[in-house]
Amino acid sequence: MLAAALLAGAGTMSAEAAKGSFEAGKGKFLLNGEKFVVKAAELHYPRIPRPYWKHRIELCKALGMNTVCLYVFWNAHEPRPDAYDFTGQNDLREFVKLCDAEGMKVILRPGPYVCAEWEMGGLPWWLLKKKDISLRDDDPYFIERVDKFQKAVAEQVGDLTIASGGPIIMVQVENEYGAYGTDKPYVATIRDMLRRNFGNEVTLFQCDWASNFLNNGLDDLIWTMNFGTGANIDEQFAKLKEVRPESPLMCSEFWSGWFDKWGANHETRRADDMIAGIDEMLSKDISFSLYMTHGGTNWGHWAGANSPGFAPDVTSYDYDAPISESGQTTEKYWALRRTLAKYYEGKKLPKVPAAIKPMAIAPFTFSEYAPLWENLPEAKHDTELRTMEDYDQGFGSIVYGTTLPQLEAGATLTIDEAHDFAQVFVDGNYVGKLDRRNGERELTLPQCKSGARLDILVEAMGRINFGRAIKDYKGIVGKVTITTERDGYEWSASPTHWEVRNLEDRYDTYTAMNYRPIAEAQVVDGRLPRGCYRAHFTVKKPQDTFLNFATWGKGLVYVNGHAMGRIWEIGPQQTLYMPGCWLRKGDNEIVVLDVVGPREARCEGLKEPLLDQLLVKKRATHREPGQTLNLAGEQPIIEAELQPGNGWQTVKWGRAVRGRYVCIEAVDAIDGGDEASIAEMYFIDERGKRLSREPWTVTYADSENTDGVNRSADKTFDLQESTYWQTAVGVPYPHAIVIDLGSTRSLTGFECLPRMETGAPGAVKRVRIYVKGEAFAM
Ligand code: GLA
Repeated sequence: MLAAALLAGAGTMSAEAAKGSFEAGKGKFLLNGEKFVVKAAELHYPRIPRPYWKHRIELCKALGMNTVCLYVFWNAHEPRPDAYDFTGQNDLREFVKLCDAEGMKVILRPGPYVCAEWEMGGLPWWLLKKKDISLRDDDPYFIERVDKFQKAVAEQVGDLTIASGGPIIMVQVENEYGAYGTDKPYVATIRDMLRRNFGNEVTLFQCDWASNFLNNGLDDLIWTMNFGTGANIDEQFAKLKEVRPESPLMCSEFWSGWFDKWGANHETRRADDMIAGIDEMLSKDISFSLYMTHGGTNWGHWAGANSPGFAPDVTSYDYDAPISESGQTTEKYWALRRTLAKYYEGKKLPKVPAAIKPMAIAPFTFSEYAPLWENLPEAKHDTELRTMEDYDQGFGSIVYGTTLPQLEAGATLTIDEAHDFAQVFVDGNYVGKLDRRNGERELTLPQCKSGARLDILVEAMGRINFGRAIKDYKGIVGKVTITTERDGYEWSASPTHWEVRNLEDRYDTYTAMNYRPIAEAQVVDGRLPRGCYRAHFTVKKPQDTFLNFATWGKGLVYVNGHAMGRIWEIGPQQTLYMPGCWLRKGDNEIVVLDVVGPREARCEGLKEPLLDQLLVKKRATHREPGQTLNLAGEQPIIEAELQPGNGWQTVKWGRAVRGRYVCIEAVDAIDGGDEASIAEMYFIDERGKRLSREPWTVTYADSENTDGVNRSADKTFDLQESTYWQTAVGVPYPHAIVIDLGSTRSLTGFECLPRMETGAPGAVKRVRIYVKGEAFAM
């Protein structure tokens, strides 16, 4: 390392001289021996159309950034075992070389797990075919596959590290492992793999949260912190400074905005908070990566889903970032550029490249359709219910068909569980839907004749990318039961024969269908039939546009064979970004699969995206009209006073108390105001361990701010320290939330994290905790 630095410092012009070094010095990073503050722009190459890569890198450079930070999505590169793809959108090497050509350094984050609101956090779905696999763990099969993949990555870019004269200054080991578990041996396995592949000189780091980085922190790696806009920065680095006073400081993910989920409000974060954070970090020589500087798009079926619960992400990954999804500069961009200009060593910032102008496309109607039920693939016969993965299917929809016994009206069909959006039909007639987002598992069946046909159409959305639930199988993952009353007794049965049809999400699947003129399509209950729709539209001069799907139901879109992404009428996203580089002068083809059926089969190109049109909301609040929690006569198990400031706080009651329903009553606020806010909370069991929050639900919250934002009480256990429960403006104390733990548990303590901003706005002072076996009276 030292030799390389000296050589570079000497300014020799030989090929050797291009080699450099990057390392952690005392309190700072050293690039070729000189102090270097990393100003990184997070960009994900598969999320940006390849012809626009250079434009987006130039936009980042013109902001005053000196580095590009990127994830490598394993599942995009290895769609089938050993079938590696590093071409086209996946050409990692080309992207890294483009960064280099622009004089940008690169931070490589090859996972294997990346989170990133990407399908299964970047892990390939086919790993799930091995049912007993343990993901992100020293499981021999998992490690064998990770090792192969990491070697493939190194074959692409292993010679582009700074020690070999390339732009890669650092490589990340795993990703926020602390949010998943505690397993230093596994993290060490990944570290060793990276060393074998990238050489011992490579500078490796781990990113985690201030609250948990010590759990998995390896002594020989650099530790960086992730936190969002608005966070109290000194507080975020306090622990690191204490345990490693000489470490350079870096926020490896400073969240510029946030991601959107179907059925929830569009997320934004304030520009001035982001700017203040960047300014403060740079004034203190703290390195950062701005996640995202440009988010781009989750093309096709690549959007992931958040958990606990199931909250699938939308197609746009705009992220309210400084550079919009379509590469436009925003107010945030210009404000950030002004701030970064102050830290550009007195030089002038590079010129901002010209914008790619969006165009409108006049409304056009679809000319053909292929009804879903007439175009299903051959059935496989099975005596057991299996998941999509069992049939070697990764993405798309699956239909499970069977015959029913004679049933009086009112029998219950229980599907426990359908992943992710199931529609039930009896003799071809629609009965209802089960939406996993809402925990729906039961439907009432109509009267059925013996031999009536039951069909369950299950559409898979993105696999969960966060937390322990990433082992997320698709299709029906449990049991199907029919329950009714016979002769005064409860009768239940599960079908023992299934006809299964796999509708793999591929362009060929949809184009191979038999299309008919749209004039033959009948509107039933306001909708055209479920199925595929095709249209041709003419473009004079291809430019970017936003295709409007506001009249469609739910499904997937392909244009000229490019997978554009998912659509869903509930919003908040109504348009899909259509890059001009994928359009053709003259005739263009569009194919839409709509599993619900469009209200009108038409489309148009808009000049602006529609990303904040929420039409149908998942019930976002947890209080019925007129409902009030009645705590009269209830005895709290403890009343405690929390301390001011940021960071976790613990309340213990020194004995095990059993119960299923817990009420947290906030009596007053530290700042004396009306607002109550909690970012995260846990209960401690009798072994001193945190209880799993997977089965939790909120049964009551007296007040929640869901007015254009997503600050409902379930944010207290969404595993995201930067999102929080907040009461609505002007609603006075006391406040209360009630959690159903899912089953009776023994509790010995309560842990709570206030908001991350300086002064912890809305931090609760006095809390009373109540634990009961049965639900609280309302
Ligand atoms: C974490 C992960 C990222 C991303 C962000 C939220 O920091 O490391 O991959 O999921 O959260 O956008």
